Amino acid sequence: MNERAAGGTVPINSSVAHPARVYNVWLGGKDHYPADQEAAELAAAANPQIVPAVRANRAFLGRAVRELAGKAGIRQFLDIGTGIPTANNTHEVAQGVDPGARVVYVDNDPIVLAHARALLVSTPEGATDYLEADLRDVDSVLTAAREMLDLAQPVGLMLVAVLQYVPDADDPYGIARRLLDALAPGSHIVLSHPAADIGAEEVAESMRVYNDRAAEHAGATPRTHADVTRFFDDTDLLEPGVVQLPEWHPDPADGLSPGALPMWCGVGRKP
Ligand SMILES: C[S@@+](CC[C@H](N)C(=O)[O-])C[C@H]1O[C@@H](n2cnc3c(N)ncnc32)[C@H](O)[C@@H]1O
Repeated sequence: MNERAAGGTVPINSSVAHPARVYNVWLGGKDHYPADQEAAELAAAANPQIVPAVRANRAFLGRAVRELAGKAGIRQFLDIGTGIPTANNTHEVAQGVDPGARVVYVDNDPIVLAHARALLVSTPEGATDYLEADLRDVDSVLTAAREMLDLAQPVGLMLVAVLQYVPDADDPYGIARRLLDALAPGSHIVLSHPAADIGAEEVAESMRVYNDRAAEHAGATPRTHADVTRFFDDTDLLEPGVVQLPEWHPDPADGLSPGALPMWCGVGRKP
């Protein structure tokens, strides 16, 4: 069992923008279509902080996984909204700390599945798995997770730059709570999210430009600091709390310059 698909995934449609491919444009990758490139470029023109933010987001993901695999001793990860593989994917960072780390990846975009083999190159000691599914299908996600991870032991739940694609009407807080409820005490949630309250006008305009061009059900909703903090309601929020990306356990090696980037991030521990 390596690559599987559950229902609720999106068909490939190259004429409208898809989140994984737009994100790939911003990261300087090559796996996208002209519609994605146009949406990405227009959104970035409306908000020039997007490109520095997505780079800072990848750096946050790396620091958070290192922290969890290192200090918190987490050995298994459930990475939902994986994205097209790029540098420092979750299993590479985690297995860099402990080669025995196990990672289950989940994404609803078939373009990510097309690249899943890169995500499945595990160390011999560890393991990786890939499920094509919508995170709103919590039962399928948890079923796949249980096949490879021991949910009686702590898990690192990665919801990095993905919950913006779940509108309030689909209950993103309930989804995050159901996922966390299934995990053992000592599990951690790693989350980042576009901010509605940092450079609010530019964010609103860039979202409008992107949403006008996005595939059905792929529109994005930015959220405020208070909204994002609510995702950590049932956890002990690790220091320094919900902050801007470069402020979470900064590492000079990331080469990020401090400044207002329109995303919030944080890590919480399930007591
Ligand atoms: C902005 S990228 C983030 C990638 C990676 N987590 C990171 O932070 O670098 C968002 C990813 O979430 C996926 N995604 C969006 N909506 C989703 C959903 N409802 N269920 C599962 N994955 C979703 C997209 O296909 C895309 O690959």
